[in-house]
This record gives sequence, C-alpha cells and structure tokens, in this order.
Amino acid sequence: MTEPTTDQVASPAAAKPQSGRSVTLRKRPGRRRASPAAGAGPLLTTEGLTRHFKIGGGLHRRTLHAVDDVSLSIGAGEIVALVGESGSGKSTIARLLARIYQPTSGEIFLQGRRLSAIRSRADLLAYRSDVPMVFQDPFASINPVFRVSHGVERSLKLHRPELSRAERRAEAVRIFEVVGLNPGAEVLERFPHELSGGQRQRVGFAQALAMRPKLILADEPVSMLDVSIRIGLLNLMTKLRDEEGVSILYITHDIASARYVADRLVVMYAGQIAESGPVEDVLARPRHPYTQLLVSAVPDPRAEVSVGADTDRGEPPRVIDPVPGCRFRWRCPLAEQVCHEVTPPLRQLLPDHSAACHVATADAELKAF
Ligand SMILES: Nc1ncnc2c1ncn2[C@@H]1O[C@H](COP(=O)(O)OP(=O)(O)O)[C@@H](O)[C@H]1O
Ligand code: SF4
Ligand SMILES: [Mg+2]
Repeated sequence: MTEPTTDQVASPAAAKPQSGRSVTLRKRPGRRRASPAAGAGPLLTTEGLTRHFKIGGGLHRRTLHAVDDVSLSIGAGEIVALVGESGSGKSTIARLLARIYQPTSGEIFLQGRRLSAIRSRADLLAYRSDVPMVFQDPFASINPVFRVSHGVERSLKLHRPELSRAERRAEAVRIFEVVGLNPGAEVLERFPHELSGGQRQRVGFAQALAMRPKLILADEPVSMLDVSIRIGLLNLMTKLRDEEGVSILYITHDIASARYVADRLVVMYAGQIAESGPVEDVLARPRHPYTQLLVSAVPDPRAEVSVGADTDRGEPPRVIDPVPGCRFRWRCPLAEQVCHEVTPPLRQLLPDHSAACHVATADAELKAF
C-alpha cells in the first residue's frame, strides 16, 4: 500500500534544505476555524506551568529551567501549534501534559479539573485516555513484535472494557479506516515493518483515537517522515479535528506546517512563551522580536523552514540558573536597559493575542527584524 497521492504537493520553488526534497504548504483550503461552543470554556489550560531539572552534582549542581511559568489554553476542537527551536521546552510541556513528568510548580486543568487533584489509578487512566500522546518516532509507540492490531485492540480493551471481542475488532477496523489505513481489516493484520513510516505514524494516531481522546499531544509527529508524505499526516490531523472533534497540540519546529494546520500558534523561546495568538495574525503581524526573526527567516511563507535553520545565530539562550531579564535580549536589536533587568511578563495585546516583550504593542509597528 502506498501513501495517498492526493495529499502530496511538490514545488521546486520551495526547497527543503536538509533533504533536497521540496514541498509547498499553502493554507489548507476550506479549513474550518475552530469554534468552541459558546460558554464551554477552554478544554485544557495551564497556569504558571514550570519544570526545572537539577543537573551536575556537588558544587556543580545547577538548575536547568526547561519550562518556566507557561500559561496556555487549548479550546475544544482546536489545533494549537507549539513552535520553537530545539531545546525551547516543547517536549517537556507535552510530557507535563501527558503526566509523564510532574511539574516543579504550576497547574494543569482539564475542563476545569485540577490535574494535581487526581489520586486514584482509575482517574489517572481516564486522564491518559482523554489526553494521549503521539510520539515523533512511530516505533516508540508500536511494539515491533506484534501485528499492528495488538496495540489498538489493547487500548480498546483497557479504555473501553464494555466492548465485546467482536465489537472491539469492528471498532479497530473503523478507526484504522478513519486514519486512512485502508482496508482496515487487512492492515490490522500486518506487522509494523510491513508498513511505511507514514503508515506507522497513522497507527500511532489510531492508537490514540481508540481511547476516544479529547486532546491528542502530537510531538513532532511528521518530522521523521519523508517530506512528500508529511502533508497526508497534516491533513489527517485536520480531519480528526473537523470530523472527530478532537483537539490537538501540534508540536513542531516548522512554521509552514503550523500555519497549514493550526488555529492558534504558541511560540516558545528558552522555556517561556514569547507570543501566542491566532496563527494567521501572529505570522502576518508578529509582535515579539523573536517571532519577527522566525518570520523574516522564511523567504516564502508557504515554504517549509525549520525554526533554528537560520534563526539561532548570536548568543544561545541561558536556561541554566538564568538571571532575571528577557532571555532573548542577547539577540534582540530592540533591547533596552529594562530588558536586562526585568523578565517581561506575557501581556495581552489584543483579545486573543499576547506577547512577552517590554516594548511590543498591539499595532505591531515596532520591527526588530
Ligand atoms: N530529563 C531531563 N533532564 C535534564 N534536562 C532535560 C531533561 N529533559 C529535557 N531537558 C532539557 O530541557 C530543555 C528543553 O528540552 P525539550 O523540552 O526536549 O525541548 P524541545 O522539545 O523544544 O527540543 C533542554 O535544554 C533539555 O536539554
Ligand atoms: S523584552 Fe526587550 S530584549 Fe526581550 S524581546 Fe522585547 S525588546 Fe527584545
Ligand atoms: Mg522535542
């Protein structure tokens, strides 16, 4: 079985630096804007989410601030893209939300329910089925020894014990077909090594979907895939949003793919949120100098450009025992004295658009890059 060719788009105008392959990501046609039910409130929120790691020993013991004071919100039926260069804390946020890591401080709320209040194994299992994770490497979540039916049927057995064996099989077939693994009954019988990378990643989404999730945490789900098959997976994410009503936190270092699928964008820098807002607004009129740098490094806004490809020059951010002040100040042409002394809080500039910068304004007239 091959990847769906209708998903493939190629253009010589937009070259991908690493592989020499090329792809152009236009804004997805006819895409539905997320419209969470009025008054329903956000699906998941974090307040001051912080995770530090102790590194070194003895006199050399230091504290690495992987994630500092992150407050974000994800609406029902919304794709939020979390973008930032390598080491900016994206995966740590995903692991905190998946309850793989405990926060150093701060809180996570799912539909208003405080995650730290979860005590019983049953409640934790219920949370994990509401918020499953899809990993970057499809092999990480698929056992190579078993047929691919094993993982999805195991998920169904654990999270939906009311299903009979026959119903479980029928549901597994349905889910495989939802994620584009056709014919489901046939693909379920294959071993992971008999599938392509893209198909294996679809199995990862099928395993998540089997839990009837509210929010899928997708940590760089397409970055290990061949460029030509990435769009099929991006389209799958929008399908899961539009047809299954699932929210997705899409973690990526590629701005173009974020623009293609996401409703809102959260830009991370050195463990903190630099800017967040509706994806088109943030990319068309970036308020934070770091976002401006990212956007200026993308010559064609539809081309696939990795964050960090041309944006990580200058001093790297200091996240080990950081001192107060803006973590972007060593790269920022607009830095003022206050930027060296006071950490800029995330300020709301427009109703749904915030930036953590002392000088950023709602009208986006200040240009650093
Ligand atoms: N378990 C860990 N122990 C120590 N440092 C870690 C650990 N996990 C992540 N880090 C550090 O936290 C920072 C953020 O990492 P990560 O969340 O993986 O970033 P990203 O996913 O954006 O590349 C990095 O400096 C990384 O080295
Ligand atoms: S707070 Fe200061 S250093 Fe940081 S991005 Fe804004 S202007 Fe630049
Ligand atoms: Mg990561």
